[in-house]
Amino acid sequence: MEKKEMLQILETDDFGFIDSIFQSAYETKLEYTGNKVYFRGIIEFSNLCTKDCFYCGIRKSNVSLKRFSMTQDEIIEAALFADKSGYGSIVLQSGERTDEEFVSFIEQLIETIKQRTNNRLGITLSLGEQAADIFKRWHSAGAHRYLLRIETSNKKLYEHLHPDDHSYDKRLNCLDVLRDIGYQVGTGVMIGLPYQTNDDLANDILFFEKHDIDMIGMGPYIVHNDTPLAKSVTFDPQKNFLLGLKMIALARLHLKDINIASTTALQALDARGREEGLKAGANIIMPNITPVKYRNFYRLYEGKPCLDENASLCQSCLDERIQSIGEKIGYSQWGDSPHFFKRTGKMPKTD
Ligand code: 5AD
Ligand code: FES
Repeated sequence: MEKKEMLQILETDDFGFIDSIFQSAYETKLEYTGNKVYFRGIIEFSNLCTKDCFYCGIRKSNVSLKRFSMTQDEIIEAALFADKSGYGSIVLQSGERTDEEFVSFIEQLIETIKQRTNNRLGITLSLGEQAADIFKRWHSAGAHRYLLRIETSNKKLYEHLHPDDHSYDKRLNCLDVLRDIGYQVGTGVMIGLPYQTNDDLANDILFFEKHDIDMIGMGPYIVHNDTPLAKSVTFDPQKNFLLGLKMIALARLHLKDINIASTTALQALDARGREEGLKAGANIIMPNITPVKYRNFYRLYEGKPCLDENASLCQSCLDERIQSIGEKIGYSQWGDSPHFFKRTGKMPKTD
């Protein structure tokens, strides 16, 4: 797809045209990744964060927030719930920490989860920027995918959204290091950020291509009232929602064989947002399996859904939602990115 076409799609408000784009993205998904949706149960296990991103509700300067960290046992219990429910994989996500106590906590956690589930559960990490040897330790312990959003591929905009000691180049370098170590590498951006243009968004898709990314998790930017960015500009939820869906479709049409998540931020803006994401070309859902008592404290943005639903309720609700649009759920399967196997020549795990 030419960049010119991407811009046309991003700019249009012709719903007939938009529907036809979603339809062809959906067909591309069926052709390259099949009609199965894979689950990654996400455990947001701690909101302690050493960084201070201007858009994020758990940034360290947000003092109005109670900080929490789940224990190993609590996290393992959530992981075992995912295994028992046939989720196939989990995502471990938290604020960013690089201290040795944290690093070895994660290392032990990965080993225990692998052992307790007989290697059944796939583990994706979403723990921010780390040194190469840390990424290696966690990979050796058994994690096989890593998500690190570039947030925006426009370096100037990145700098505008972060304090001076946060580095775009360092983040970019982490993506290369992760790939070299052997992870399946995921990245993504926020969509509809203040000062972001359609040209930036088209460049984001080209960025994913250039960096040979295996998985994408991206979603609309949503304001969080206790952040500096909330003060800067007005926020248009409907516009960001539609742009979020268009970006999924563009990523599918342009990159074809990657995994794309239909993210919670879409659902935060529209009750059927995640289903709409699947219909626009996404093939991954990340049900929140964090214990309810902690969910309120892991608010990256306003209006995060399912804050008071327990994980099993979320599950039956999700099953229905997914079946209602004619998709199947790949229970107990890893559902790894086909792109990863193509670029590495490795064979997928068979169940
Ligand atoms: N709106 C949408 N997404 C956000 N994230 C953080 N803050 C926000 C926000 N206000 C996303 C970032 C981060 C991921 C864990 O959550 O992209 O990488
Ligand atoms: Fe925690 Fe950005 S505020 S990583």
